[in-house]
Amino acid sequence: MELTTYQKEMLDGVWGKGKSMAMQVLVGIGKCFDAPRLVPITRAHVSLSAQEADLWFSGKLLAAGAHCAVPPTVNPGYSLDYFHGHLSQAAMENMRQVDRIYRQLGARMTYCCTPYLEDNVPEFGEIVAFSETNATIFVNSVLGARTNRESAASALCAAVTGFTPEYGMLCRENRFATVAVEVQATLRSDFDYAVLGLTGKKIGGGVPAFLGLPRDISTESLIALGTQLNVSGNYDLFHIPGVTAEARDTEDIFGGREPARRVVITDEDMEQTLEAFSPSPSGSIEYCVLGCPHYTDAQLEEVDRLLDGGASQIPIYILTSSTVKARAHESGLEQRLLDRGAELIPDTCVDEACCWGHLAGRPGVTDSPKCAYYMETSGICLAVRDRNTCIRWAQKGRVC
Ligand code: F3S
Repeated sequence: MELTTYQKEMLDGVWGKGKSMAMQVLVGIGKCFDAPRLVPITRAHVSLSAQEADLWFSGKLLAAGAHCAVPPTVNPGYSLDYFHGHLSQAAMENMRQVDRIYRQLGARMTYCCTPYLEDNVPEFGEIVAFSETNATIFVNSVLGARTNRESAASALCAAVTGFTPEYGMLCRENRFATVAVEVQATLRSDFDYAVLGLTGKKIGGGVPAFLGLPRDISTESLIALGTQLNVSGNYDLFHIPGVTAEARDTEDIFGGREPARRVVITDEDMEQTLEAFSPSPSGSIEYCVLGCPHYTDAQLEEVDRLLDGGASQIPIYILTSSTVKARAHESGLEQRLLDRGAELIPDTCVDEACCWGHLAGRPGVTDSPKCAYYMETSGICLAVRDRNTCIRWAQKGRVC
């Protein structure tokens, strides 16, 4: 791999042990993927997780004197203000320590998993290092930025050095669609796009181009599609003609080549996919979790509208960014939601077992397959249904 003088100096420790460690990781990754060189990044997003490996790696970089050349935004951990009653002293100290380490490394402590909406928005063609599965696919597909699906560690190393290996999604030739997905199913809501994302088993590997979709797809639907594609499979990028950044027309999408596969998704596929992922439950529902990925202003407003039909009988936990929460607070929306049983929780991820243990073994519902997938690993069993159904069940406290 060819390195510039500055990159070689970083690797050799001229610019400190921290940068040298980060360079070793990046050069190692570059060699694995036959990257010819390292290229500069202009932005980074690190999927901070507040879990053991994250703490170990970020702490090791800090102890070696690393500091970010490109200050990254970070994923949610857990809100100490909100969860202090549920958390052990050790869990509280863990989150404080993660916060301290990332701050000292020079990260922007945004604690949000949708940074591309306002905190960290790449432009078309910009080379960035983003981790977090919903974020990488969104910035690649919808914004036309270029990032590989970085891990928290590789994104942090890119932030520390300001460089990333040039391979995969950074190269135009790998960004053309390879699978033509003709969507015959009717899609009405962002949840329908989430279920479309769950059909990855049928779509198979590659870069899918979704054909036959309308041009006025909401941001929330595009977020849902990308997020859930990475629950049912492993995707860096998707295209939708006339909607996503590199898909002006069909020629543009396939790079003039025939797709390797053609797949049709029907209403029946959608029904079967949802039923297989989350069979119809019955009986009581004790809580509802929304906001994985973090809810937008529009999604909060929709919950507000749905709760006009009656207050919830059970707690509704809504995860969102502190920026969106602050806006909801100012406009009075947060209080209206609270009065009817829905709480806004900032800075928090569903994949933080120490926060959600009290829900284990109790039946709940969510509108996010990703949420159900992660929470199941902590023994928390959630049915997955659209937002309307979640709220209706919450208003009755049972499946209805
Ligand atoms: Fe966000 Fe955590 Fe879900 S990072 S997308 S709330 S798993």
